[in-house]
Amino acid sequence: MKLTELLNIKHPLIQGGMANVSGPELATAVSEAGGLGVLASGGYSVEEVKNGIDYIRAHTDKPFAVNVVLHHPDLDSLLQAVVDKKVAYVILGGGNPAPHFSKLDAAGIKVICVVGNVKMARKVEDLGAIACIFEGAEAGGHIGALNTMAELPSIADSVTIPVISAGGIYTGRQILAAQVLGAAGVQIGSRFLVAEETPVHEAYKKYLIQAIDSDSVVTGQASGHPVRVVKNKLTDKLLELEAANASPEEFEKYAKGSGPRAAREGDAHWGSIMAGQGLNYLTKIQPVAEIIDDLAKEYEEAKKNLDLHF
Ligand SMILES: Cc1cc2nc3c(=O)[nH]c(=O)nc-3n(C[C@H](O)[C@H](O)[C@H](O)COP(=O)(O)O)c2cc1C
Repeated sequence: MKLTELLNIKHPLIQGGMANVSGPELATAVSEAGGLGVLASGGYSVEEVKNGIDYIRAHTDKPFAVNVVLHHPDLDSLLQAVVDKKVAYVILGGGNPAPHFSKLDAAGIKVICVVGNVKMARKVEDLGAIACIFEGAEAGGHIGALNTMAELPSIADSVTIPVISAGGIYTGRQILAAQVLGAAGVQIGSRFLVAEETPVHEAYKKYLIQAIDSDSVVTGQASGHPVRVVKNKLTDKLLELEAANASPEEFEKYAKGSGPRAAREGDAHWGSIMAGQGLNYLTKIQPVAEIIDDLAKEYEEAKKNLDLHF
């Protein structure tokens, strides 16, 4: 089944759940524009998530999802909240989804899982996920080890549920490329960081706009929790500490709270400016509807002009 039919949306496009970033304003705008808006839970309290769900419902009657991060400090109440609110779609990521399927299933909630390799994609298909999202290491935020070009076709060949490609998608051309590699749709995060409706601090957006491809760095490799961010004073310090084999406590002194410090307080130097590798494509602040419209036009254009000859 086509992703658009499965999720009852116009474009096969999901807005990535983004901790401290994808609040209800962004999710509403994406759903209204024909994609699947996703309310984040990372960085938000359960109360904020509940209010976010109410906000989205008050502003659109289009489908949306909640991204449930499995390392949320109040995971049980968060899961209860999505059940009580009868959310139609939940996206599970950042942990083992297996223990949570029965509760969500029983409530009639459709589950989509973020996966990092073929083994996990097969596992979530067996558990009953209606689709899975493969996130390549080009993506912004917490990343896995594998990249889209090598891994996406392999996952698409291994499961029968739709595979959604995440990581490195900023233009319609990249959507077409993902489709060729076997994707049934795409999940886009970083491109929406500079949307007008995205509730991150102006300083964060401005920092992204001036950044270029080579400013993309990965911190946290040493601890096994790699995060793709934009180079700044914080990343210089963290990479220096990693190189010096500093203790986790020393690392945490700088890393702790760095997400909200950037997204909410606008500290672009000592906050964590999470974003993916396509920084050259973040050139201006635009309304969500315009971004999605551009992506759709670019996709059609790329398909029309496809002229393959090596
Ligand atoms: C600022 C930021 C925060 C993110 N937080 C989450 C999160 O809380 N949960 C999640 O499943 N993915 C999270 N992601 C990943 C996105 O949902 C999405 O998969 C990713 O951004 C796609 O790659 P792209 O950034 O290249 O578009 C985050 C990404 C960014 C940029």
